[in-house]
Amino acid sequence: MGADCLNPALHTFLAQANAVMHGEPLPAMGAGPDAPASAPGGGTAESVRGGPPPRVHVGVDLGTAYTVLAVLDERRQPLAGEYRFAEVVRDGLVVDFHGAIGLVQELKRNVERRLGFALTSAATTYPPGVSPHEVRATQHVVRAAGFECEQAVDEPTAANAVLQVRNGAVVDVGGGTTGIAIFRDGEVIYTADEPTGGTHFSLVIAGALGIELAEAEAIKKNGANHRRLFPLVRPVMEKVGTIVARHVAAHAVESIYLVGGTACFPGIDGVVEQVTGIRTVIPGFPLFVTPLGTAMHNLPG
Ligand SMILES: Nc1ncnc2c1ncn2[C@@H]1O[C@H](COP(=O)(O)OP(=O)(O)OP(=O)(O)O)[C@@H](O)[C@H]1O
Ligand SMILES: [Mg+2]
Repeated sequence: MGADCLNPALHTFLAQANAVMHGEPLPAMGAGPDAPASAPGGGTAESVRGGPPPRVHVGVDLGTAYTVLAVLDERRQPLAGEYRFAEVVRDGLVVDFHGAIGLVQELKRNVERRLGFALTSAATTYPPGVSPHEVRATQHVVRAAGFECEQAVDEPTAANAVLQVRNGAVVDVGGGTTGIAIFRDGEVIYTADEPTGGTHFSLVIAGALGIELAEAEAIKKNGANHRRLFPLVRPVMEKVGTIVARHVAAHAVESIYLVGGTACFPGIDGVVEQVTGIRTVIPGFPLFVTPLGTAMHNLPG
């Protein structure tokens, strides 16, 4: 692998993040779920109570499908997090301010309880191309939930803080949209966002099986159903591939890295590769890459 390879510690990092997002203590913590959480730097949560709060890095990703709060320790390793399915944002636009603020407050409270100290500062993220007004609206939600929020970063750039792609396209296939960022020598040279994502997969499943959208969404996320649903959702995967192909056409992209929850559907990498003719990789646990990268951009004051 050359200079274009992914972060060499990526798999361990994402596996740890996946564990802490689901409430599991890190192996090094050696504690049960009800034991005091380990604090960054090795002390227990109790030992930091009363002292200055540890310099953790927090990311809040308000998504169309999932709102995620991710916490990294001082060394930017996964420490804690929580996520919830909620319809408070649509395609990067906050559509339910009250609900979004309440949700971020709830995630913050739960994670703080687990860690034993207050979270004071967070970075947030937005789809490429939304207006500065929408970016401010997202920051407003995070501030109203009790965070200082100075850093706002676009989604694929956030994702690349984790992936560390130097040359290639990072494609975030979320619930509502597909975001694309092209990197050249580690710098973003192009971004775009288009309205096709996991919700469209669920709509197709609902239509084909004659069921409600919520039921289709649940069926789709159950790995046991992926094989039989694949022929139904393949055309939507092809649409994602067509969108990506159109945006990368002028940029001599050699590799595509798929992240976002919709990349959890097996086979999407093969379809995107077939449509674009470009090597396509899913870097394991794609659901949390963008929120974790958002946390990496948080520089607590
Ligand atoms: N195991 C799974 N199999 C298939 N799809 C999944 C799975 N897990 C999550 N998804 C889908 O991933 C999507 C959510 O992904 P993600 O959290 O990246 O989106 P989001 O950030 O909420 O949306 P957006 O970025 O478009 O605003 C949903 O459509 C969800 O159904
Ligand atoms: Mg997203």
